[in-house]
Amino acid sequence: MRVSIKTRLFRRKMIKDTLGELMPHQHLVRCLSAFDLTLLGIGAIIGAGIFILTGVAAATQAGPAIILSFVLASMACLFSALSYAELAAAIGGCGGAYGYAFAGFGEVFAWIIGWDLILEYGISVSAVAIGWSSYSLDILQVLGVTLPEHLVKAPYQGGWINLPAMLIVLALTGLLALGVKASVRFNTIIVFVKLATIALFIAIASRHVEWSHWNNFLPFGWNGIVSGASLIFFAYIGFDAVSTAAEEAKDPQRDMPRGIIASLIVCTVCYIIVSGLLTLVVPYATLNTASPVANVLLTLGYNVASSLIAIGALAGLTTVMLVMFYGLSRVMLAMSRDKLLPASIAHVSSRTKTPTRIILLVGSLVSLVAAFLPIGLITEMVNIGTLAAFLLVNLGTITMRYSHPELERPFKVPGGYLLPALGIFFCLYLMFYLPWVTWLRFLGWMLIGALIYWHQLVRTTKKA
Ligand code: ALA
Repeated sequence: MRVSIKTRLFRRKMIKDTLGELMPHQHLVRCLSAFDLTLLGIGAIIGAGIFILTGVAAATQAGPAIILSFVLASMACLFSALSYAELAAAIGGCGGAYGYAFAGFGEVFAWIIGWDLILEYGISVSAVAIGWSSYSLDILQVLGVTLPEHLVKAPYQGGWINLPAMLIVLALTGLLALGVKASVRFNTIIVFVKLATIALFIAIASRHVEWSHWNNFLPFGWNGIVSGASLIFFAYIGFDAVSTAAEEAKDPQRDMPRGIIASLIVCTVCYIIVSGLLTLVVPYATLNTASPVANVLLTLGYNVASSLIAIGALAGLTTVMLVMFYGLSRVMLAMSRDKLLPASIAHVSSRTKTPTRIILLVGSLVSLVAAFLPIGLITEMVNIGTLAAFLLVNLGTITMRYSHPELERPFKVPGGYLLPALGIFFCLYLMFYLPWVTWLRFLGWMLIGALIYWHQLVRTTKKA
């Protein structure tokens, strides 16, 4: 692809301004294809949202209209994904939304969004590890293995430690440290397992549809649909993690838009079919369980298929953690290269080509959080944090078109400013339906971030 001189100059300036002059030990290696990126996206997206949260959201928030909640949440995501695709192809880098905020709004905004992404990815990995732990214990129980209570429960649940949650995070830490190719190969296999289990569910459930279950389609009205959407929005989170792979993509300008958009479309279609079937097969009120998809098959008398779904769910949760953890490590690499985090951790191993210091640091912290803290209670913070990031990326797409009209955009969101503006609208709409306590926690986290930034600023000013 021919790149204009202006664009090249802009990119050079971006690298100087936002990434600093990269040292050899800070370089990642380009090895990911469009297919790898799409599967990374599906790996990050399909997980706890569809396998766990959908049941609660259908039973207590939206009823059979949960299918509309999925459509509504997909609006915020599809418009945002287009904006991500435009900026990922035009700007690239390994920081995702952090890097775009740097380009569009400067360092302060970049810090805010980087801090926000640390929250999103960090809590996602810890919370999903706890979900993974309870799913794996169920499967072990079916196989006749029971672990001692004090080793599978954190102190707040009356035990000592949630060992399975800790061990899965440590195992993924090792895998990520081994190299991006090894992680992507593992992700590919597991993504096919989870897609196969979803296909199995669809094949069985579609033979037991009873339209009468939709007679009372809107038991909680429009408000139920929107609050359901703001909860199951979690199911869509993850395609944004693909944007952090731009520096490792073979042809980012062509493949990033493909990977981001294709993975989101595949998952949206799966979600709409699965959520529709769940409420067409059993009364929505019976879905309030921790494993609704597997339970529905159990209710229908398919015991073996139900166990296979449980394994698929476990596979789903594993890749969500893997790709979120990957995203977190790349955002932190970008931030530490810019010295917004300690520069000493911005080190890419010459052997594995991964930021091993960051991976080991984050893996240790996240495994401790998953093992000991009640992080599952605050997963809604992930939704608000991600919606805030999406909002800024949509805004960034619009402002960058004003501030850098000359920038070569290999992919451009069609329809002028309309779709990014709709993305902003849908993100705000879903944010306002989240509980006020989630807003307070989120504002608290951002305040801590602002204080850290201010502290660093004062320190560097004094040194100068
Ligand atoms: N979308 C991911 C999940 O549902 C975060 O687990």
